[in-house]
Amino acid sequence: MANVTVVGAQWGDEGKGKIVDWLSNRADVVVRFQGGHNAGHTLVVDGKVYKLALLPSGVVQGKTSVIGNGVVVDPWHLLTEIGKIADQGVNITPELLVLADNATLILPLHRDLDQAREAASSQKIGTTGRGIGPAYEDKVGRRAIRVADLADPEALKPKIERLLSHHGALRRGLGLPDADAGQLFDQLMEIAPKMLAYAQPAWRVLDQAKKAGRRILFEGAQGALLDVDHGTYPFVTSSNTVAGQAAAGSGMGPKGPGYVLGIVKAYTTRVGEGPFACELSDEVGTHLSTVGREVGVNTGRPRRCGWFDAVLVRQSVAINGIDGIALTKLDVLDGLETLKICVGYKIGDKVVDYLPAGMRDQAAAEPIYEEMEGWSESTAGARSFKDLNANAIKYVRRVEELIGAPVALLSTSPERDDTILMRDPFEG
Ligand code: GDP
Ligand code: IMO
Ligand code: MG
Repeated sequence: MANVTVVGAQWGDEGKGKIVDWLSNRADVVVRFQGGHNAGHTLVVDGKVYKLALLPSGVVQGKTSVIGNGVVVDPWHLLTEIGKIADQGVNITPELLVLADNATLILPLHRDLDQAREAASSQKIGTTGRGIGPAYEDKVGRRAIRVADLADPEALKPKIERLLSHHGALRRGLGLPDADAGQLFDQLMEIAPKMLAYAQPAWRVLDQAKKAGRRILFEGAQGALLDVDHGTYPFVTSSNTVAGQAAAGSGMGPKGPGYVLGIVKAYTTRVGEGPFACELSDEVGTHLSTVGREVGVNTGRPRRCGWFDAVLVRQSVAINGIDGIALTKLDVLDGLETLKICVGYKIGDKVVDYLPAGMRDQAAAEPIYEEMEGWSESTAGARSFKDLNANAIKYVRRVEELIGAPVALLSTSPERDDTILMRDPFEG
């Protein structure tokens, strides 16, 4: 019986939340292993919409939910999110939620720095402004405040001093006032008991779950093209988003992640700045954006839309070790007369079948398309592969062939149950 790791195979917003929620039914524990509340995962259950950023999507099905050590946690945001989801009838207790005691905290000074840098920069990344990048910088810089530090006020004071001496110079350079050490200490002490109620050695909880034969579902955030190593650097997020991170970001060994399920949208979207070869600014782009309701969950920014890029997803299959995919939002293509799929790039006078690492090459890449006939029938809400029309089936089969991975799940609407199971990821 395999564990399953769900990862975004494009630039995020592929429908990870929906698929994790659906798979949660078959799992015992759901674990986030990277990112923070830059993620926006949408679940729709009987018309009721849940928007999660930091909480693992398993909470809605009442599964043990773990925020792993690889996640950066804004404690104030976490409490707000717990409050919001409680208003929707999902009660988050310390029995349900485990917060890794060695996870890094996002502090108000990280958000300040993220936003001030974006405002001052001539080369904006288009971040979510939630302090993700600066928090990871402090983590690898070995000066971060972590969850466990909240239990030790005496050790926390010198850690805050050290952190602020680093941030002082940065803040002054950006015209921000110095952060107040006493105020930050008081803020953290106020929130400490609420955070510590959930804090545990998450690796140990997971080890025990593994030994008890429980099924673990890992929930990725963002997508492979936003990975800090493999993505469209520097227009990326500040964590590794690929499946390999599920092990390090949770404290399980390399076999923990199990079956890797890549979530793949039937077309491409991206929020924020950076190269996007297949981007469309014509009426097809408008169709994808309006029919697909492509608006950022957290920031309300419109998502940029374009044709399906098989080159990117093939690369994503390789770097994640994807065993199978969940193909989502096929229904959004309903009614388009002709469909295009990117099968290669032209960069200057060269033709390549992968996305090169260089920034200038990435910006210069022009898509080479193959065309397919679209369909006028509706696939929305289909719950069986047999219900799909011949051209939709052809499209799905061509996607599988081009990316080199089979479709395990197919999603045809935002609703939890509008999901077609082709092969069960938990069965390997
Ligand atoms: P995530 O970040 O990967 O979890 O994805 P988001 O929740 O940010 O964005 C995906 C959006 O598409 C959400 O609004 C989902 O409700 C919606 N969605 C998911 N699957 C489907 C699908 O198969 N069809 C349609 N039309 N919408 C879907
Ligand atoms: P989910 O989990 C789409 C993008 C931002 C920006 C870049 C860096 O919902 O798929 P950051 O705030 O992380 O430093 O911003 O990454 N980004 C996402 N785009 N979906 C997400 O998450 C994203 N999380 C970050 O728009 O371009
Ligand atoms: Mg999202």
